[in-house]
Amino acid sequence: MDLKRLAAERAVEYVKDGMKVGLGTGSTAYWAIQRLGERVKNEGLQIETVATSQASEDQARELGIPLVPFSEIGRLDITIDGADEVDGRLNLIKGGGGALLREKIVAMNSRRLVIVVDESKVIHTLGKFPLPVEIVPFACEWTYHALDQMGCHPAWRMNGSEKYMTDNGNYIADCKLGRISDAEALNQKLNMIPGVVDNGLFVDMADTIVVAHADGTIEIKRK
Ligand code: 5RP
Repeated sequence: MDLKRLAAERAVEYVKDGMKVGLGTGSTAYWAIQRLGERVKNEGLQIETVATSQASEDQARELGIPLVPFSEIGRLDITIDGADEVDGRLNLIKGGGGALLREKIVAMNSRRLVIVVDESKVIHTLGKFPLPVEIVPFACEWTYHALDQMGCHPAWRMNGSEKYMTDNGNYIADCKLGRISDAEALNQKLNMIPGVVDNGLFVDMADTIVVAHADGTIEIKRK
């Protein structure tokens, strides 16, 4: 049983006719997009969407899901996205797939953020998963140094021998923090560093978490 698929397909039940929908990124969000495509095709579901990455946009286009320019869509009704970690307060680490900035922008402009995960992603305290920090290329070594000085233990994300580049033309430093005791404070502190575009902490943004358990049951956590 594919738990990612199970959670994602359940979340797609929240999508109703006429909704404006944000499409997430990653291997769990992939299944949500696939299911939305089925509903558009088989049920004639009427939706308008925007995507959080080039990959999700390409997938949606291939499935015939209507994509609308950001300038025309206005506020979204719902976004369905994955996460790398979810804590008891529904705070998240995202960005394992490198789309954290677009995901945060889209989430901020959605009435409802639904996160789909398998049970392995639900943890007590955020930080075991390395926190992605998106950095502009200009003087990126200085920004990296600032993270190092803060005790973030950064490591450049690589794509072969080159630094990994996001859809926005930026780099990512993955920070091995171990345990994040105050996600809100860290989020603000990181984003105060010039050169940091944003980081993968999503504090107080998720409304609903759909968790698929290994026994095939689904748990819904609400804010
Ligand atoms: C991409 C993300 C993903 O949602 C996150 O990395 C989870 O990925 P997956 O569903 O493949 O486990 O934040 O930037």
